[in-house]
Amino acid sequence: MSSPLLDWFAPCPRGLEAPLAAELDEIGDRHVDNAPVPSGALSVGAQVPGGVHFRGSWVAGMAANLHSRIASRVLLKIAQGQYRNEHDIYDLTHRQRWKQWFTPNQTMRVDLTAIKSPVKSLEFTTLRVKDAVCDRLREVAGARPSIDTAQPDVRVFAFLTANECTLYLDTSGEPLFKRGWRLDKGAAPLRENLAAGILRLTGWTPGTPLFDPMCGSGTFLAEAAQTALDIAPGMERRFGFEKLKPFQPMTWQKLREAAFQARNAAFAAQPDLNIFGSDISGDMLEKARANLNRAGIPRLMLKQLDERNMTPPTDAPGILIANPPYGERIEVRRRGPRGEIRDTGRFRREDEEAFERAQPDPADTEFFISLGNALKQRFPGWRAYVLTSDRKLPGLMRLRESTKTPLFNGALKCRLFRFDLIAGSVRNRPAGDQPAE
Ligand SMILES: C[S@@+](CC[C@H](N)C(=O)[O-])C[C@H]1O[C@@H](n2cnc3c(N)ncnc32)[C@H](O)[C@@H]1O
Repeated sequence: MSSPLLDWFAPCPRGLEAPLAAELDEIGDRHVDNAPVPSGALSVGAQVPGGVHFRGSWVAGMAANLHSRIASRVLLKIAQGQYRNEHDIYDLTHRQRWKQWFTPNQTMRVDLTAIKSPVKSLEFTTLRVKDAVCDRLREVAGARPSIDTAQPDVRVFAFLTANECTLYLDTSGEPLFKRGWRLDKGAAPLRENLAAGILRLTGWTPGTPLFDPMCGSGTFLAEAAQTALDIAPGMERRFGFEKLKPFQPMTWQKLREAAFQARNAAFAAQPDLNIFGSDISGDMLEKARANLNRAGIPRLMLKQLDERNMTPPTDAPGILIANPPYGERIEVRRRGPRGEIRDTGRFRREDEEAFERAQPDPADTEFFISLGNALKQRFPGWRAYVLTSDRKLPGLMRLRESTKTPLFNGALKCRLFRFDLIAGSVRNRPAGDQPAE
C-alpha cells in the first residue's frame, strides 16, 4: 500500500476546515514524511465547506485515519465525471473496477450527498449507484454483494454537484469521532472531533493551563490530554481500509507501532499536563473519570464545583474552555403546545427563528451573569472560550467578545466566543451596551 499518489477527501464539522487543513499538514510532516515505510508525501489541497482535499499514498490515507482528531472520515476518491441525469451516474459508477477494491462476498452500503443537483429523487439515485456497483461485480465476479446498512464491510459515497458526480470509497468505517473510549455519554456530549477542532482554534498547546469548568463527560479534557501525551486518536479502533483488497497489514502494523512508540516516549517524559476540569454534577465527573481512564489518561484533577465558585486552578493564566448547558434548555423550549417534544433530531426553521427571538429565561440570565462575573473577577490574564448556540450570550455575561467563530454542532449553528480577560482592566461592555437587568 505505498505509492501511487491518490486523491482523498476528509469531511469535518463545518467551520473546522482551516484547523483540519493545518492538522493534515502536520500529519504529513510528522507521520508521512517520517513513516517507517516508503510513503511519498501528503499534500493538502483545497478547503471546501465541510471538508479538505489532500493527495498522498495509501500511507497518507492510513496516517490521516490514525492521527486526525478533526476529520469525520477519510474518503478515497475513485472517480469523477460530468452528468446530466441518473443514467449518466449509473454509467459512471458501472465503468469503475469495483473488483479491485472488494469482493461480492462483502456487504456494502451506498450514501449520497447532493448540492444543487438536478436529479429528481436522491433515494432513486442512491439506488442507481448501488445497482451499478452490484451489476458490475456480478458481471466480472459472478455474484453481487449484499446490502447491510448497519454494519457494512464497505461504504461507497457519491457526491453530486449541479453537473459533476464524484465517487468515493470510505476508508474509515465507523466515523472517526468514535475513538473507542466513550462509553459514558452524559447529558449533551460534544463530538470528539468538534472538541478537538475547537481546542486547535483556541491556539492551546500542551503545557499551557487548560480549564473546563463545565466538563461534563470530559470531551475537551480527553482530547487535550491525549494530544499532550501523544496518544493517536485512532490507536484503539479498527478502520474500513482494513477490509479493502489493497490493504497491507504489515505496513499498517508499522504505522501503529510508530504511534505506540511516540506515546511511550511522551509518557516517559512525564509532562505536567496542567489540564483541569470541574462540573456541578458528581455523576458527570464519574463519567468523565471513566472516559479519561479508557482514553489512557492518568488521573487528572477533577473537582465537583458550581461555576459560580470557580477559581483559577493555576497561578499562571491559561485557557478556559466551556460548553455551557444551553442546548438542554433549547430542547425544553422545543416542546409543542401540549408539552410534546417536537423534531428532536432536525429542528424546523420556524422553531429556530422562534428560538432566536425568544428572551432568555431568568434562570439562564442568572447563570450567565454569574459566569461573566466569575471570569471578570477571578480570571485576569486568562483567555476564555465559550461554545453556545445563543448569540446573545456575551450580552448576558456582560462581556464583549474578542472574536466569534461560527461552528456547527451537528445541525445546530453555534458560535465560539472568545473573551480576553485582560489583567487589571477587563474588557467590559460599555453601559449602553448592557442588556437591562
Ligand atoms: C453541555 S454539558 C457539557 C458537555 C461536555 N462538553 C461534554 O462533552 O460532555 C454542560 C455541563 O454543565 C454542567 N453544569 C450545569 N450547571 C453548572 C454549574 N452551575 N456549574 C458547573 N457546571 C454546571 C452540567 O452538569 C453539564 O455537565
